[in-house]
Parts: sequence; C-alpha cells; structure tokens
Amino acid sequence: MNPVLRVSGGFLFFANLLAGQTMHPSGNMFRPLATPARLVSELSELTVVICLSVFVIVAGLLAYAVIRFAYREGDSRSEPAQVYGSNQVEIAWTVIPILIVFVLSMATARITSAVQNQPIPKDALYVTVIGHQWWWEFQYPDLKITTANELHVPLSSTAQPHMTSLTLKSADVSHGFWIPQLAGKTDVIPNRTNTMWIDPHETGIYLGNCSEYCGTQHAKMEIRVVVDTPEDFQKWVERQRATAATSDADAGQQAFLSSPCIVCHTVNGTAAMGAIGPDLTHLMSRYTILAAETPNNAANLRDWIKDPQHLKPGNKMPTAPLSDRQLDQIVAYLTTLK
Ligand code: CUA
Repeated sequence: MNPVLRVSGGFLFFANLLAGQTMHPSGNMFRPLATPARLVSELSELTVVICLSVFVIVAGLLAYAVIRFAYREGDSRSEPAQVYGSNQVEIAWTVIPILIVFVLSMATARITSAVQNQPIPKDALYVTVIGHQWWWEFQYPDLKITTANELHVPLSSTAQPHMTSLTLKSADVSHGFWIPQLAGKTDVIPNRTNTMWIDPHETGIYLGNCSEYCGTQHAKMEIRVVVDTPEDFQKWVERQRATAATSDADAGQQAFLSSPCIVCHTVNGTAAMGAIGPDLTHLMSRYTILAAETPNNAANLRDWIKDPQHLKPGNKMPTAPLSDRQLDQIVAYLTTLK
C-alpha cells in the first residue's frame, strides 16, 4: 500500500485537530449522542440486564447442584428419587419466561414506535441519502446542495433543537446506513424509500459505515457525519451553494472539461454535469476521498485518478487515458474546488 495512505489514520487525526473537529470514535454505541441512538442504547441495557440475571440465576443453580450433589465417598450407588409432573415447577418455568419475553417485546415496541413515529418539525433539515456502489450521495433539496460521503448537519441542543430528517434511497443494490452514535441501522433498498432522523448533541465528526454487504468494496463505503454549530453549518451551506471558482483560461480546467471525467461528475457552473459519480463542485471541502479514510490531498487524488482500480478494486471509476501532464493539470484544477 502507498505509504501516504498507510499513515492516513494519523494524518486524519492531525487534519481534524487542525480543523478544530472532535473525532468521535467509530462505532462506540455505548456512548450515544443523539436521541434515536440513546433510546436504542437504553433498550439494549435493559435487555442485557434481564438476560444477564437469567444467566446468573440459571448458571448459579446449575453450579450449586453440580457441587453440592456431587458423588462423595460413602454415598449410595443407587439411583436417586425421580420427580415427575410437579405442577408448581412446570407452571413456574413456563410463566416466568413468558413474562420476560412479554416485558422485552413491550419495551422494544415502545422504543421502536418512539423512534419511528417521532413527528418531524417543519423547520427540520431534509437530506436525501443515496447509496451507490460504493459511496454515498447527499442531496439537500431545499438548499440545492449535492455532496458526497461527508454529511454536514447542524448541532441540536435543548435551547436550539435542530432535527435532521434523512430520506434513504439506493441507486443500485441494498446498502445499510449506520452511524452507531446517532441512530440504529436503516436499510437502503432499491425501489423503496426509507426514512430516519437524527439530532446530534455534540459537534464533531461521527463515523459510520455501510452495514449491508453490497459488493467487493462494501468495507470502503464509510460515512462521515460532520456536526457543526448552527452558525458553522450556515457558513458551510453558503460555501456549498457558491458555484465553483472557474476561469476559462485555466489549463487545468480545460484539461478536466475535455477529459472523460465530465461524463460522470458534476462541477456546478461548468459543462461537467455527469450524475454517476460524486459531485465535485466543492471537492476540497471534504476531508477524505473514496468514501473511506483516504485523506483528500493532491497526492492521493493523483494516485486515485491515475489508477482507480489499484486503490479500490472493482469500483465503477474507469482509468482515463491521460498523459502525466494532463493528470497534473486536472489535479491542480480539482484542488481549487474548495
Ligand atoms: Cu454499501 Cu455495503
């Protein structure tokens, strides 16, 4: 593997520090930071407590019986008294498990309906999430923004609640949208629309991943949710709404616009209007590329465009026939897309 990529974890940590962002550890569902994740976490705590009590009682009685009634020197070798048909015992071990299952199913139904039937306020932020092999598209229909792999949403506090409502769709196969600290998993299914909502209580970067096997690069289909303060979110929105800084005299832009790249990618305000790959209008506002932990910088972009199949084998990006000079020019252009 390319040494630049190997140190990506450290690089990202550093880059996030520079950007003043807290990185929330991936997958720590025991520290929920949004209402849906907290409800799911409380339900699992209840389930764990009940199941653990059952285990301790049953295993304890078993251990007690094994030790207390083990064969000892001088015991009779004859069979002990056999007990059949005790109504009390049979009723007890039928009714208690039914009660346990009843309590757990009622608690599950209550939490499920609390998450699913939550009314979405009128001022909620609406985002359409589209799963692709193997990256995520995020469209903000009201704000007219399209981005990829890094979802920006505002912080939700008691003083200023900001709910984000997500509409989940797939462009190809089934995917799963999961950010453990924000909400439970929701399937992303072709020809079906699912919804979920989040209200993150802390700013920072939350990590998630596609949670349904969707092909060779399923593991490299990560999600980053960047939770900004409402002010920072507003600034991000304004930057994203601006069209790309373009200049027709720019050799890099010329090289890009005359390359096959524009068939799949969009850069707003230019002739590049492809909708198959990620929107590149504000490419450099993202921390990573390839929907994974690959830091977004000129060296990695160049490496990626030169031979996409070596970094993420099987992905849908073809190798464009570009000379080294064209490659340099295109990378130079892309790095201006802030
Ligand atoms: Cu997409 Cu797994």
